[in-house]
Amino acid sequence: MSIKAEEISSLIKQQLEHYDDKLDIDEVGVVTYVGDGIARAHGLNHVLANELLEFANGSYGIAQNLEMNDVGIIILGSFDAIREGDRVKRTGRIMQVPVGDALIGRVVNPLGQPVDGLGEIKTDKTRPIESKAPGVMERQSVKEPLQTGIKAIDALVPIGRGQRELIIGDRKTGKTSLAIDTILNQKGQDVICIYVAIGQKESTVRTQVQTLKRFGAMDYTIVVEAGPSEPAPMLYIAPYAGSAMGEEFMYNGRHVLVVFDDLSKQAVAYRELSLLLRRPPGREAYPGDVFYLHSRLLERSAKLSDKLGGGSMTALPFIQTEAGDISAYIPTNVISITDGQIFLQSDLFFAGTRPAIDAGNSVSRVGGSAQIKAMKKVAGTLRTDLAAYRELESFAQFGSDLDQVTQAKLNRGRRTVEVLKQPLHEPIPVEKQVVILYALTHGYLDAVPVEDIQRFEHELYANFDSSHTDLLATIKQTGNLPDETVLTKAIKDFAASFSPTAK
Ligand SMILES: Nc1ncnc2c1ncn2[C@@H]1O[C@H](COP(=O)(O)OP(=O)(O)OP(=O)(O)O)[C@@H](O)[C@H]1O
Ligand SMILES: [Mg+2]
Repeated sequence: MSIKAEEISSLIKQQLEHYDDKLDIDEVGVVTYVGDGIARAHGLNHVLANELLEFANGSYGIAQNLEMNDVGIIILGSFDAIREGDRVKRTGRIMQVPVGDALIGRVVNPLGQPVDGLGEIKTDKTRPIESKAPGVMERQSVKEPLQTGIKAIDALVPIGRGQRELIIGDRKTGKTSLAIDTILNQKGQDVICIYVAIGQKESTVRTQVQTLKRFGAMDYTIVVEAGPSEPAPMLYIAPYAGSAMGEEFMYNGRHVLVVFDDLSKQAVAYRELSLLLRRPPGREAYPGDVFYLHSRLLERSAKLSDKLGGGSMTALPFIQTEAGDISAYIPTNVISITDGQIFLQSDLFFAGTRPAIDAGNSVSRVGGSAQIKAMKKVAGTLRTDLAAYRELESFAQFGSDLDQVTQAKLNRGRRTVEVLKQPLHEPIPVEKQVVILYALTHGYLDAVPVEDIQRFEHELYANFDSSHTDLLATIKQTGNLPDETVLTKAIKDFAASFSPTAK
């Protein structure tokens, strides 16, 4: 077989054309190690931190550790098909997720892909999962309430739109239930809700989605799910993806509530990645930048200035504690980043005080300025009174004859605890909360037997619904208390007609 001279030259030309590619280790790398959600690659000299990388088989990764000869990569999705020697190339951008109205009502994974079997999500809008938090001039102070419909929160530790309020407690203390009920209460309030489930059992998430559907709450909710069987990188990016979806609405002047359930599991996933990437472990084996992990996330929630449309993103991060220890590493970090915390106590929970909010340890640093005036008036000192009652209660166990003042305080305290109890999935509109708290703080419940308080409350609501809609409407529309003589008369009349359970 003879080869023509021009063929040889074209072959050489072809080879020369590709000569550069082989040496282009600035843009392309070769996988030298892969396993457990991470990979290492040689080359990629020009890669930027957090840049999205594409593997030869089409999977993606995020550049994390940029070292002299090596890049540490966290792999998104499955890593079984990636092999040593595979190529990995730069994409020049950071990871994006789909955003926009099309996601509402859907359950997606942290990459924004649907996992609810309802078909493709049609949106051409995307946002980077990491973005810069709004600066000082781009914000304004929190001023509108975010009504949770939960009496103990709206009265004691009110939350404002744009606030970050930590929900912290041991396992099985009703944390998730608080979030679900808060989402249920946003119906008709023009708030888009994003529930980010991180490492929660798939069966639990399914039940929650069903609850949301049953109450019509999926009409304004997005669920982002990173299950416990997913590789650690998915759990790590889930809250950032949820925030990106929320930002799209916030920067368009809308109000968003985003729930991170929970950040302890995200921190554990991040610790796993960091150890695999051989970063030096610090306290509790978390890497040194675990504070930044949460601060950069939570700083993205804000109440934007009017110039930017006045939208808001309220964040409810969750932290799970061990044996009520709020002074562990991750809890103290997140407490210092947020604008307050709601501490749920297992003792209270098991004693039947649900929601099990510990009034003494729970605070809201900015929500008070977002409370409506009527609520501020009736609930002003409730939190400190309740905390004082708890102390008095343990002290009163020892003394038999108590003076009248103490006795009265104990009486009021018992009734306060009773009023603040609330069953699941029964959010109460703020105007009704104001009425019952008015009755409580003005002493109209003092004569009602403790075991009748909850029935009294429900019958009072029914009475107002049928005979005093005008009073409820005034509170709702003006945010102020109605004429107090009229309100007092309505409550007194009802109290007189109330028949305690015969013993
Ligand atoms: N206010 C309430 N009234 C009655 N039952 C409640 C209330 N809040 C929560 N529960 C019940 O308590 C159980 C635990 O609640 P939930 O799952 O919200 O707790 P959690 O702290 O999120 O638990 P986990 O640690 O598993 O995440 C659930 O079965 C729930 O139905
Ligand atoms: Mg939970």
